[in-house]
Amino acid sequence: MRVASWVEVGRVEQVPPGHAARVEVGDVALAIFNVDGEFFCIDDTCTHAEASLSDGDLDTARCLIECPLHGSAFDLRTGEPRSLPAVEPVHVHHIDTSDGVIRVALNTEGLA
Ligand code: FES
Repeated sequence: MRVASWVEVGRVEQVPPGHAARVEVGDVALAIFNVDGEFFCIDDTCTHAEASLSDGDLDTARCLIECPLHGSAFDLRTGEPRSLPAVEPVHVHHIDTSDGVIRVALNTEGLA
């Protein structure tokens, strides 16, 4: 995984457990999720169409986000779609929440 530098995008209290946030780093839209205190960061744009995954339903028990447009569920740990119609994974990015600050580092593998 190629990793760009860390970027501060907010504070942990801005994304309570069970919630999501959309942030932009450069021209990349990212979705940040708080799953019972554990944070994940993936591409915000669904690989099937242009839906914003941060607007989807978060399944904290299975660590999945369900796309709000056609319902594909993506695994927040791997980015892999677990249901159709999406077949391509989203990128999973590094995220760090030490000191209460949310920082992300882009996984630039495959990004233009
Ligand atoms: S846009 Fe996400 S499943 Fe179609």
